[in-house]
Amino acid sequence: MRIVRSIKKAREAVSRARSRGLKIAFVPTMGYLHEGHLSLVRIARHYADYVVVSIFVNPTQFGPREDLARYPRNMHRDRALLTKAGTDLLFYPTLRAIYPKGYRTYVEVTGLSGVLCGSSRSGHFRGVATIVLKLFNIIKPDLAVFGRKDFQQSVIIRRMVWDLDVAVRIMTGPTVREKSGLAMSSRNDYLTPVLRRDAAIIYQALRCARTGFRKGETADPSALTGMIKKMIGNRGGRVDYVSVVDPDRLAPVKKAKRGDLIAVAAFFGKTRLIDNITL
Ligand code: PAJ
Repeated sequence: MRIVRSIKKAREAVSRARSRGLKIAFVPTMGYLHEGHLSLVRIARHYADYVVVSIFVNPTQFGPREDLARYPRNMHRDRALLTKAGTDLLFYPTLRAIYPKGYRTYVEVTGLSGVLCGSSRSGHFRGVATIVLKLFNIIKPDLAVFGRKDFQQSVIIRRMVWDLDVAVRIMTGPTVREKSGLAMSSRNDYLTPVLRRDAAIIYQALRCARTGFRKGETADPSALTGMIKKMIGNRGGRVDYVSVVDPDRLAPVKKAKRGDLIAVAAFFGKTRLIDNITL
Protein backbone atom coordinates (compact mmCIF):
# COMPACT_ATOMS: atom_id res chain seq x y z
CA MET A 1 0.00 0.00 0.00
CA ARG A 2 1.33 3.38 -1.00
CA ILE A 3 0.81 6.35 1.35
CA VAL A 4 0.71 9.90 0.03
CA ARG A 5 0.14 13.18 1.85
CA SER A 6 0.09 15.77 -0.93
CA ILE A 7 -2.78 16.36 -3.36
CA LYS A 8 -0.33 16.34 -6.25
CA LYS A 9 1.06 12.91 -5.36
CA ALA A 10 -2.44 11.50 -4.85
CA ARG A 11 -3.53 12.78 -8.26
CA GLU A 12 -0.43 11.33 -9.92
CA ALA A 13 -0.87 7.91 -8.32
CA VAL A 14 -4.55 7.69 -9.29
CA SER A 15 -4.02 8.91 -12.83
CA ARG A 16 -1.28 6.31 -13.31
CA ALA A 17 -3.74 3.63 -12.19
CA ARG A 18 -6.40 5.01 -14.51
CA SER A 19 -4.04 5.05 -17.47
CA ARG A 20 -3.47 1.35 -16.83
CA GLY A 21 -7.21 0.92 -17.38
CA LEU A 22 -8.00 0.24 -13.71
CA LYS A 23 -11.38 1.04 -12.18
CA ILE A 24 -10.96 3.29 -9.13
CA ALA A 25 -12.94 2.93 -5.89
CA PHE A 26 -12.72 5.33 -2.98
CA VAL A 27 -13.56 5.04 0.73
CA PRO A 28 -13.27 8.31 2.69
CA THR A 29 -12.72 7.94 6.46
CA MET A 30 -11.57 9.85 9.51
CA GLY A 31 -9.36 6.95 10.62
CA TYR A 32 -9.28 4.98 13.87
CA LEU A 33 -10.57 2.18 11.73
CA HIS A 34 -12.80 -0.68 12.76
CA GLU A 35 -14.53 -3.55 11.00
CA GLY A 36 -17.23 -1.16 9.70
CA HIS A 37 -14.67 0.83 7.72
CA LEU A 38 -12.87 -2.31 6.56
CA SER A 39 -16.12 -3.83 5.27
CA LEU A 40 -16.42 -0.80 2.95
CA VAL A 41 -12.85 -1.32 1.75
CA ARG A 42 -13.76 -4.92 0.90
CA ILE A 43 -16.82 -3.79 -1.04
CA ALA A 44 -14.61 -1.32 -2.90
CA ARG A 45 -12.12 -4.11 -3.61
CA HIS A 46 -14.90 -6.28 -4.97
CA TYR A 47 -16.24 -3.70 -7.45
CA ALA A 48 -13.00 -2.05 -8.54
CA ASP A 49 -9.35 -2.75 -9.34
CA TYR A 50 -7.66 0.07 -7.48
CA VAL A 51 -8.81 1.04 -3.98
CA VAL A 52 -8.09 4.44 -2.48
CA VAL A 53 -8.83 5.16 1.19
CA SER A 54 -8.47 8.59 2.77
CA ILE A 55 -7.88 9.36 6.42
CA PHE A 56 -8.59 12.95 7.35
CA VAL A 57 -10.19 14.19 10.55
CA ASN A 58 -12.13 16.98 8.90
CA PRO A 59 -12.35 20.03 11.18
CA THR A 60 -15.18 21.72 9.25
CA GLN A 61 -17.67 19.00 10.21
CA PHE A 62 -17.08 19.39 13.95
CA GLY A 63 -18.99 21.97 15.97
CA PRO A 64 -17.15 24.27 18.41
CA ARG A 65 -18.19 22.16 21.39
CA GLU A 66 -17.56 18.81 19.71
CA ASP A 67 -14.72 16.31 19.97
CA LEU A 68 -12.32 17.42 17.19
CA ALA A 69 -9.32 17.78 19.52
CA ARG A 70 -9.83 14.42 21.17
CA TYR A 71 -11.08 12.45 18.15
CA PRO A 72 -9.18 9.15 18.43
CA ARG A 73 -6.26 8.48 16.10
CA ASN A 74 -4.01 5.48 15.50
CA MET A 75 -2.20 5.78 12.21
CA HIS A 76 0.09 2.86 12.88
CA ARG A 77 -2.78 0.45 13.38
CA ASP A 78 -4.91 1.93 10.56
CA ARG A 79 -2.06 1.43 8.14
CA ALA A 80 -1.71 -2.25 9.00
CA LEU A 81 -5.48 -2.84 8.78
CA LEU A 82 -5.76 -1.09 5.41
CA THR A 83 -2.85 -3.03 3.96
CA LYS A 84 -4.47 -6.27 5.05
CA ALA A 85 -7.87 -5.28 3.65
CA GLY A 86 -6.37 -4.70 0.19
CA THR A 87 -5.95 -0.94 -0.11
CA ASP A 88 -3.74 0.31 -2.94
CA LEU A 89 -3.41 3.94 -1.98
CA LEU A 90 -3.84 5.69 1.36
CA PHE A 91 -4.37 9.44 1.04
CA TYR A 92 -3.52 10.99 4.38
CA PRO A 93 -3.47 14.73 3.70
CA THR A 94 -2.29 17.45 6.02
CA LEU A 95 -4.76 20.02 7.31
CA ARG A 96 -3.11 22.79 5.29
CA ALA A 97 -3.19 20.78 2.06
CA ILE A 98 -6.97 20.54 2.33
CA TYR A 99 -7.75 23.89 3.93
CA PRO A 100 -5.01 26.41 3.12
CA LYS A 101 -5.16 29.69 5.03
CA GLY A 102 -8.00 31.84 3.69
CA TYR A 103 -10.10 28.89 2.50
CA ARG A 104 -13.62 30.10 1.67
CA THR A 105 -15.77 27.67 -0.29
CA TYR A 106 -18.41 25.38 1.23
CA VAL A 107 -21.05 23.06 -0.17
CA GLU A 108 -24.53 23.05 1.29
CA VAL A 109 -27.16 20.47 0.42
CA THR A 110 -30.25 22.42 1.42
CA GLY A 111 -33.21 20.80 3.10
CA LEU A 112 -31.49 17.50 3.87
CA SER A 113 -28.76 19.00 6.05
CA GLY A 114 -30.90 20.70 8.69
CA VAL A 115 -32.95 17.69 9.83
CA LEU A 116 -32.13 14.72 12.12
CA CYS A 117 -28.41 14.99 13.00
CA GLY A 118 -28.28 18.35 11.20
CA SER A 119 -30.63 19.99 13.67
CA SER A 120 -28.43 19.25 16.67
CA ARG A 121 -25.11 19.48 14.77
CA SER A 122 -25.51 22.71 12.85
CA GLY A 123 -22.96 23.04 10.03
CA HIS A 124 -21.95 19.39 10.31
CA PHE A 125 -23.22 18.28 6.89
CA ARG A 126 -21.92 21.42 5.24
CA GLY A 127 -18.48 20.31 6.41
CA VAL A 128 -19.10 16.74 5.28
CA ALA A 129 -20.36 17.73 1.80
CA THR A 130 -17.43 20.11 1.38
CA ILE A 131 -14.72 17.61 2.28
CA VAL A 132 -16.30 14.78 0.30
CA LEU A 133 -16.61 16.93 -2.84
CA LYS A 134 -13.00 18.07 -2.43
CA LEU A 135 -11.85 14.47 -2.05
CA PHE A 136 -13.91 13.42 -5.09
CA ASN A 137 -12.24 16.19 -7.08
CA ILE A 138 -8.80 15.04 -6.00
CA ILE A 139 -9.28 11.28 -6.42
CA LYS A 140 -11.90 11.32 -9.21
CA PRO A 141 -13.08 7.80 -8.34
CA ASP A 142 -15.43 5.73 -10.49
CA LEU A 143 -17.24 4.64 -7.36
CA ALA A 144 -17.25 5.58 -3.69
CA VAL A 145 -18.49 3.52 -0.76
CA PHE A 146 -20.26 4.86 2.34
CA GLY A 147 -21.76 3.14 5.39
CA ARG A 148 -25.47 2.87 6.11
CA LYS A 149 -24.75 3.62 9.75
CA ASP A 150 -24.47 7.26 8.70
CA PHE A 151 -27.62 7.05 6.61
CA GLN A 152 -28.26 10.78 6.43
CA GLN A 153 -24.69 11.36 5.30
CA SER A 154 -25.09 8.89 2.43
CA VAL A 155 -28.38 10.51 1.35
CA ILE A 156 -26.75 13.95 1.36
CA ILE A 157 -23.73 12.74 -0.63
CA ARG A 158 -25.96 11.07 -3.23
CA ARG A 159 -27.96 14.26 -3.57
CA MET A 160 -24.84 16.42 -3.88
CA VAL A 161 -23.42 14.12 -6.56
CA TRP A 162 -26.71 14.25 -8.48
CA ASP A 163 -27.16 18.00 -8.15
CA LEU A 164 -23.57 18.90 -9.02
CA ASP A 165 -23.16 16.30 -11.81
CA VAL A 166 -20.24 14.55 -10.17
CA ALA A 167 -19.34 11.47 -12.22
CA VAL A 168 -19.12 8.96 -9.40
CA ARG A 169 -21.28 6.01 -8.43
CA ILE A 170 -22.24 6.01 -4.76
CA MET A 171 -22.59 2.65 -3.02
CA THR A 172 -23.55 1.90 0.57
CA GLY A 173 -22.51 -0.97 2.79
CA PRO A 174 -24.51 -2.46 5.69
CA THR A 175 -23.89 -1.40 9.29
CA VAL A 176 -21.33 -3.62 10.98
CA ARG A 177 -22.17 -4.26 14.63
CA GLU A 178 -20.49 -5.50 17.76
CA LYS A 179 -21.77 -8.82 19.16
CA SER A 180 -24.12 -6.86 21.43
CA GLY A 181 -25.71 -5.22 18.40
CA LEU A 182 -24.11 -1.83 19.07
CA ALA A 183 -23.16 -0.22 15.74
CA MET A 184 -19.38 -0.03 15.45
CA SER A 185 -18.06 3.50 15.71
CA SER A 186 -14.70 5.11 16.40
CA ARG A 187 -16.53 6.96 19.17
CA ASN A 188 -17.46 3.73 21.00
CA ASP A 189 -13.99 3.90 22.50
CA TYR A 190 -15.12 6.91 24.56
CA LEU A 191 -17.57 4.65 26.43
CA THR A 192 -16.78 2.95 29.71
CA PRO A 193 -17.45 -0.83 29.66
CA VAL A 194 -20.74 -0.27 31.50
CA LEU A 195 -21.95 2.44 29.11
CA ARG A 196 -20.87 0.34 26.15
CA ARG A 197 -23.02 -2.51 27.42
CA ASP A 198 -25.96 -0.16 28.06
CA ALA A 199 -25.67 1.48 24.64
CA ALA A 200 -26.55 -1.85 23.01
CA ILE A 201 -30.14 -0.94 23.93
CA ILE A 202 -30.21 1.47 20.95
CA TYR A 203 -30.30 -1.33 18.40
CA GLN A 204 -32.47 -3.54 20.60
CA ALA A 205 -35.01 -0.72 20.79
CA LEU A 206 -34.91 -0.20 17.01
CA ARG A 207 -35.48 -3.92 16.44
CA CYS A 208 -38.26 -3.99 18.96
CA ALA A 209 -40.03 -1.14 17.16
CA ARG A 210 -39.55 -2.88 13.82
CA THR A 211 -40.99 -6.10 15.21
CA GLY A 212 -44.01 -4.18 16.48
CA PHE A 213 -44.46 -2.66 13.03
CA ARG A 214 -44.03 -6.00 11.25
CA LYS A 215 -46.55 -7.72 13.47
CA GLY A 216 -49.02 -5.00 12.56
CA GLU A 217 -49.23 -3.75 16.16
CA THR A 218 -48.73 -0.14 15.10
CA ALA A 219 -47.82 2.04 12.14
CA ASP A 220 -48.11 5.19 14.20
CA PRO A 221 -44.70 6.92 14.15
CA SER A 222 -45.19 8.41 17.61
CA ALA A 223 -45.99 4.98 19.06
CA LEU A 224 -42.84 3.55 17.44
CA THR A 225 -40.61 6.39 18.55
CA GLY A 226 -42.23 6.43 22.01
CA MET A 227 -41.30 2.79 22.51
CA ILE A 228 -37.69 3.50 21.50
CA LYS A 229 -37.41 6.58 23.74
CA LYS A 230 -38.71 4.63 26.67
CA MET A 231 -36.34 1.70 26.21
CA ILE A 232 -33.29 3.94 25.79
CA GLY A 233 -34.34 6.18 28.68
CA ASN A 234 -34.82 3.21 31.00
CA ARG A 235 -31.24 2.14 30.27
CA GLY A 236 -29.90 5.58 31.19
CA GLY A 237 -29.48 6.97 27.68
CA ARG A 238 -30.61 10.45 26.70
CA VAL A 239 -32.36 10.53 23.33
CA ASP A 240 -31.34 13.45 21.09
CA TYR A 241 -33.88 12.56 18.41
CA VAL A 242 -35.74 9.55 17.12
CA SER A 243 -37.79 9.85 13.98
CA VAL A 244 -39.55 7.75 11.36
CA VAL A 245 -38.63 9.26 8.00
CA ASP A 246 -38.92 8.73 4.30
CA PRO A 247 -35.50 7.31 3.30
CA ASP A 248 -35.03 9.65 0.31
CA ARG A 249 -36.27 12.98 1.60
CA LEU A 250 -35.59 12.28 5.28
CA ALA A 251 -38.95 13.91 6.07
CA PRO A 252 -41.05 12.57 8.95
CA VAL A 253 -43.91 10.32 7.80
CA LYS A 254 -47.48 10.48 9.05
CA LYS A 255 -47.93 6.73 8.90
CA ALA A 256 -45.03 4.26 8.88
CA LYS A 257 -44.73 2.00 5.86
CA ARG A 258 -42.33 -0.67 4.65
CA GLY A 259 -39.02 0.87 3.55
CA ASP A 260 -39.24 3.85 5.92
CA LEU A 261 -36.28 4.53 8.15
CA ILE A 262 -36.21 4.91 11.91
CA ALA A 263 -33.21 7.06 12.79
CA VAL A 264 -31.99 7.68 16.31
CA ALA A 265 -29.26 9.63 18.10
CA ALA A 266 -28.74 9.18 21.82
CA PHE A 267 -26.19 10.15 24.44
CA PHE A 268 -24.65 7.56 26.74
CA GLY A 269 -22.62 9.58 29.16
CA LYS A 270 -21.21 12.40 27.05
CA THR A 271 -20.94 10.25 23.94
CA ARG A 272 -23.45 10.78 21.17
CA LEU A 273 -24.23 7.62 19.21
CA ILE A 274 -26.38 7.16 16.11
CA ASP A 275 -28.10 4.20 14.52
CA ASN A 276 -31.00 3.42 12.19
CA ILE A 277 -33.13 0.60 10.91
CA THR A 278 -35.25 0.09 7.81
CA LEU A 279 -38.82 -1.02 8.32
P1 PAJ B 1 -16.01 7.96 9.56
O1 PAJ B 1 -16.90 8.16 10.72
O2 PAJ B 1 -14.59 7.58 9.77
O3 PAJ B 1 -16.69 6.87 8.64
C1 PAJ B 1 -16.15 6.55 7.38
C2 PAJ B 1 -17.14 5.65 6.65
O4 PAJ B 1 -17.33 4.45 7.40
C3 PAJ B 1 -18.52 6.29 6.50
O5 PAJ B 1 -19.05 6.01 5.21
C4 PAJ B 1 -19.33 5.61 7.58
O6 PAJ B 1 -20.72 5.56 7.30
C5 PAJ B 1 -18.72 4.23 7.57
N1 PAJ B 1 -18.97 3.50 8.83
C6 PAJ B 1 -18.76 3.94 10.10
N2 PAJ B 1 -19.17 3.02 11.00
C7 PAJ B 1 -19.66 1.98 10.28
C8 PAJ B 1 -20.25 0.71 10.63
N3 PAJ B 1 -20.40 0.33 11.89
N4 PAJ B 1 -20.64 -0.11 9.63
C9 PAJ B 1 -20.51 0.27 8.32
N5 PAJ B 1 -19.95 1.45 7.94
C10 PAJ B 1 -19.54 2.29 8.89
O7 PAJ B 1 -18.16 9.35 8.03
C11 PAJ B 1 -17.08 9.91 8.12
O8 PAJ B 1 -15.98 9.31 8.66
C12 PAJ B 1 -16.84 11.31 7.61
O9 PAJ B 1 -18.01 12.06 7.74
C13 PAJ B 1 -16.33 11.37 6.14
C14 PAJ B 1 -17.35 10.79 5.16
C15 PAJ B 1 -14.99 10.63 6.02
C16 PAJ B 1 -16.08 12.85 5.74
O10 PAJ B 1 -15.17 13.45 6.60
